Amino acid sequence: MADKQIHTIGVMTSGGDAPGMNAAIRSVVRACNFHGINCKGIRLGYQGLIDNNVVELGPRSVSNIINRGGTILKTARSPEFITEEGRKKAFQNVIDNDIDALVVIGGDGSFTGAMIFEKEFGTPTIGVPGTIDNDIFGTDFTIGYDTALNTAVEAIDKIRDTATSHNRMFFVEVMGRDAGFIALNSGIATGAQDILIPERKDEIDDLFGTLSRGERSGKLSNIIVVAEGEELGGVYDLAKFTKMKYPQYDIRVTVLGHIQRGGDPTCSDRVLASRLGIGAVEGLLEGKRNVMAGIRSNNLMFTPFNEAIQKHNEIDQELIRVADILAR
Ligand code: F6P
Repeated sequence: MADKQIHTIGVMTSGGDAPGMNAAIRSVVRACNFHGINCKGIRLGYQGLIDNNVVELGPRSVSNIINRGGTILKTARSPEFITEEGRKKAFQNVIDNDIDALVVIGGDGSFTGAMIFEKEFGTPTIGVPGTIDNDIFGTDFTIGYDTALNTAVEAIDKIRDTATSHNRMFFVEVMGRDAGFIALNSGIATGAQDILIPERKDEIDDLFGTLSRGERSGKLSNIIVVAEGEELGGVYDLAKFTKMKYPQYDIRVTVLGHIQRGGDPTCSDRVLASRLGIGAVEGLLEGKRNVMAGIRSNNLMFTPFNEAIQKHNEIDQELIRVADILAR
């Protein structure tokens, strides 16, 4: 199977970390070993390539990491890699380390960098989608999303306990700069009274309508899940406007924040990462490049970087209907 051109693959994690990245690194390293090629780890993403922060990785280097959150290679968002000068330095280190191809585990920003780098210098690259946001086209799920979702659900369940005890209303902000996947699914799973996401152009009146309906039916406590990228002004403003309209409500705000990015990956994320790491290595050996490996309808698929970045997985309208029906 091995393409004779590829003797060494470099692997990095880039952008925001996501639980399951370690499982993906392990998979890349062991797939390389299986196919008799070398693997080098680039630490701190593209910045590590610029700074020549490169380490040899063998099957034992990745022992006992499949269950760990974060990334042993560390990660970064590199402003220097955005410059041509930075990318030239990075390419020199690709040559000096005899790296023939790259696997980049990250999100859309990381794939944009990979696409530009491959265009300029021709280093074959395959991406592996690692981001909690689930906002990458070409895969049903991104690595880290399932774990983040479950972390959010666990936290919101706890908030429900205290909200119920005090008859309070909570605005809970979950992550998702441009995408409402975490908000919509965690909101349904935790029985939220309303869910505000960037994909749906919510109006404050819709929120008030839902709250008034709940009030009429005798609801004493409420949880409103808000995606951080939602456009009505953020959780604090929403809480303020709501208090002005309903002074009788005792309102609190909780921002879950980076807690959603940490923790042990779920089984789904570990399996997804394991499949995609092997898929990326074997894709490179088969001559694929400038694509992202993903799983769609349980099949390994490769999507050109430009499509993975530009297109978007649509929010499931049926899920929005489910949320609306159940918020009574
Ligand atoms: O893309 C993943 C993500 O966690 C987003 O949901 C969030 O908006 C962003 O990263 C936060 O980035 P940072 O960790 O750099 O603050």
